[in-house]
Amino acid sequence: MGKLQRIKIVEILASDAFLSEQINVRGWVRTRRGNKHISFIALNDGSTIKNLQIVVDIATFGDDFLKPITTGACVSITGLLVASQGQGQTVELQALEIEIYGTADAETYPLQKKGHSLEFLREIAHLRPRTNTFSAVLRIRHAMAFAIHQYFNEKGFFYLHTPIITGSDAEGAGAMFQVTTLDLNDMPKTPEGKVNYDNDFFGKPTNLTVSGQLEGELGALALGNIYTFGPTFRAENSNTPRHLAEFWMIEPEAAFYDIHDNMDLAEDFLKSLIRYALDHCADDLDFLNSMWDNELIDRLKFVAENDFVRLSYTEGIDILVHSGEKFEFPVSWGVDLQSEHERYLVEKHFKKPVILTDYPKEIKAFYMKQNEDGKTVRAMDVLFPRIGEIIGGSQREENYDRLLDRINELNIPMKDLWWYLETRKFGTAPHAGFGLGFERLLLFVTGMGNIRDVIPFPRTPKNAEF
Ligand code: 4AD
Ligand code: MG
Repeated sequence: MGKLQRIKIVEILASDAFLSEQINVRGWVRTRRGNKHISFIALNDGSTIKNLQIVVDIATFGDDFLKPITTGACVSITGLLVASQGQGQTVELQALEIEIYGTADAETYPLQKKGHSLEFLREIAHLRPRTNTFSAVLRIRHAMAFAIHQYFNEKGFFYLHTPIITGSDAEGAGAMFQVTTLDLNDMPKTPEGKVNYDNDFFGKPTNLTVSGQLEGELGALALGNIYTFGPTFRAENSNTPRHLAEFWMIEPEAAFYDIHDNMDLAEDFLKSLIRYALDHCADDLDFLNSMWDNELIDRLKFVAENDFVRLSYTEGIDILVHSGEKFEFPVSWGVDLQSEHERYLVEKHFKKPVILTDYPKEIKAFYMKQNEDGKTVRAMDVLFPRIGEIIGGSQREENYDRLLDRINELNIPMKDLWWYLETRKFGTAPHAGFGLGFERLLLFVTGMGNIRDVIPFPRTPKNAEF
């Protein structure tokens, strides 16, 4: 028997094209069980949540040969694909040839048994993609990334690569990770005793970006419509189920959009991603729905099919103040909303996603367009069930003088932002955009409860092992 081309399990199960054919499959053993005469291997190759059942005649291969084929072992099996007589699968492979690539000692393989907690699996992030749950999440993560590029491509938005190392602080809020090649044990100092960055790699202080927006705006004011999709870093010490120190953000930016166009885009974008998941990730969603969250699919359909509620921050505060609800953080006009407030509006009051607009300028970034009232800015946050804020965005201040006033009011060092201001000096235009946290989207789409479980290698305070 010559070497046959390897076929992926997802393809084998997709049609009956391979029925009665000899094929080769390769993957990792999920379980092996059976009796004295026959052994059944459930093989998973990562292409789908579904396993292929392999039927092994023990007399043909011998007990000793089969013994090391335990949970976690990696094998290549050639056999004849036949209709299954047993329950639980339509086809099975009758093994003709087995090659063992790698064994997984049953005594020490951490995934030998099923049913580990998500907390435990986080400690073995190098192996957890081998579990059903994580492989499902990672396939959905891939599908969502693809859907995002497809969505913007079809809408005529260009993918703009913004820098990861920057000299500016786009949000002015969270702490940043500094990037330097200076020797931390022997920092060159100025006569005043401050760090002298002249001999640092870039000749100035730099950090990992907190957002690609400012550079994204430069792109939008030339190409019309752009989006970024890249890693983003925030050194805030927030140990919550919704914060990562390294996360991925999608930031569309569009010239000639006002806040309403921006909201329409955000709502259509989110709904279309959710529909994509429902249409293309059905097996994985079914698994997650049955395993972790039996309202997941209903919730996805509900959000895809219903209009989001739109109201102002001021109206939202009014509802919260009169809710009669005891919040951990008290609410009044001017406070930054906590996740408990956002979730009250979404889950209890409206029972729908909410877009809140026109926040107090004090709690929002310097670049947001100022409203006539002198108090609020044209911000828009999209709030989702179970997540709270999933998108943050705004119409941008396109007026040079007003933007400069705000920069001065906030004491933002001009030397970092002269290039940004020049876009308002030369051919400025109304424009707007937003940022979607990719892992927040994935929390919603997969129904997972902790953001550490929707990214392969989470970066959180005191955690960068894998
Ligand atoms: O609201 P944020 O801070 O907005 C910006 O960065 C703007 N520059 C976006 C723009 O207008 N282009 O962040 C946007 C989104 C949040 O709504 C949230 O989904 C996500 O990014 N996000 C985080 N996700 C995971 N971990 C964190 N620490 C996050 N911080 C923000
Ligand atoms: Mg925000």
